[in-house]
Amino acid sequence: MVKKKISSGSWTFGKNIPLSFDDHIKRSIPGYDVSLNLITELSTYFLTDNSICYDVGFSTGKLISNIYEINKGKKIKLIGVEPEKKMVDFFKKTKIYRKSNNIKIINKNIENIRIENCDLIISHYTLQFIRQNLRIEILKKFYDNLNLGGAFIFFEKVHGNNSRFEKIFSDLLTDFKLKNNFSDEEIVNKNKAIRGVLNPLSINENLALLKRAGFKKLQIIYHNINFAGILAIK
Ligand SMILES: C[S@@+](CC[C@H](N)C(=O)[O-])C[C@H]1O[C@@H](n2cnc3c(N)ncnc32)[C@H](O)[C@@H]1O
Repeated sequence: MVKKKISSGSWTFGKNIPLSFDDHIKRSIPGYDVSLNLITELSTYFLTDNSICYDVGFSTGKLISNIYEINKGKKIKLIGVEPEKKMVDFFKKTKIYRKSNNIKIINKNIENIRIENCDLIISHYTLQFIRQNLRIEILKKFYDNLNLGGAFIFFEKVHGNNSRFEKIFSDLLTDFKLKNNFSDEEIVNKNKAIRGVLNPLSINENLALLKRAGFKKLQIIYHNINFAGILAIK
């Protein structure tokens, strides 16, 4: 059997990834659908008429579509930020995008755009792909441009608080992926491809970053193996 050679750090969200993305992410992240639903429900607490909501790293647009549907009766503006043109093109073909007139797409990196005053910003497994030295500036930009009472919903892959916890987490995550029909080889190859591309912190480190950015009201709203969600209110 000829084995596919994978180079370190070769992971990308471009190429043909959009076509397989929804299936791949569900099989890779425990509780992915639970967090999508939770964020969708939470959005209704922060979005009212004239609200602006950002979805940072929207990929195939599942979350932004759900938020559009649940808040349909309100006059809101949804802004999706996504640097991968292939993802943007995929989402632009969806029914929801074509029938809506209040979803704006920005095909850029979040670090390179100006944020309008808004009531909700969501990063669902996105900031983990951005270099650590840029994250604090991005979080400060989020804090500064949120209206008082507005929220930042922050989901990330996280490390355990020490090596024992981390070992347990990575064993359990491997079991989860095997149960979801990833082969040993696919798991090893993905781990190699995301080296230096996906850089998680621990929950405590993420909480500390949010505090440095200005957020004082913080609540952990989700934790499943090494995936966690934080609600930060300004
Ligand atoms: C794991 S996916 C996010 C999943 C998605 N939010 C969801 O709910 O299914 C990470 C996404 O972040 C995007 N991304 C990577 N770097 C980014 C950056 N600097 N700014 C904004 N988005 C970025 C990737 O292109 C990719 O679509």
